[in-house]
Amino acid sequence: MTPRRGTWITLEGGDGSGKTTQAQLLEAALTDAGHTVLRTREPGGSEVGELIRNIVLHHRGDIAPRAEALLYAADRAHHIATVVKPALERGEIVLQDRYLDSSVAYQGAGRVLDADQVRELSLWAAEGALPDLTVLLDLDPAIARERLNSDEKPFDRLEAEKTEFHTRVRAGFLALAEVEPERFLVLDAATPADSLAAHIAERVNALI
Ligand code: TYD
Repeated sequence: MTPRRGTWITLEGGDGSGKTTQAQLLEAALTDAGHTVLRTREPGGSEVGELIRNIVLHHRGDIAPRAEALLYAADRAHHIATVVKPALERGEIVLQDRYLDSSVAYQGAGRVLDADQVRELSLWAAEGALPDLTVLLDLDPAIARERLNSDEKPFDRLEAEKTEFHTRVRAGFLALAEVEPERFLVLDAATPADSLAAHIAERVNALI
């Protein structure tokens, strides 16, 4: 495999934790500093991924938990192979909203599949690729829910899940961060956005 030259940063957290705001602020700061940034997301970071995103987020009927896990993994396999790896080989900074930690937290802890199996499935899909840094925006699901409620957007399949589901997802993310402290930067997402952005920028600048 061609060696990776760029820097790969993923953002993780529950729904309503403010990932999109932080991704926008970080992208602007890095671009202003003269870096080439590829901003992308899962699910839906490729053309095929957009189709899969539509199924996993908006299909109205039931989707069996294992089928849901496989759909996210299929999106991931195509996205990493055709979008992320080429950008890293070109030496770019890839700024990605959600990756395999979301599968372990949502399909593992949330849907109660075996977390190790979900992780192995994603690692197989992505040929073992792991980010240089994962920023986890940690937030109490009750506060996240208030934020989502004040948004105009209708809830997607995952957002519509009950508080217990989101509490398990949060615990799932925190457990992952504990196992890999060198990859994760865990931040309290209740902190004001500009101070969060400053923390993230400091860590990213040390990395690139
Ligand atoms: P996201 O794109 O963050 O939602 P939006 O930006 O529209 O608010 O995430 C989509 C949903 O997909 C989110 O609820 C988490 C879920 N998800 C999983 O369940 N497993 C996964 O592997 C990924 C990547 C996302």
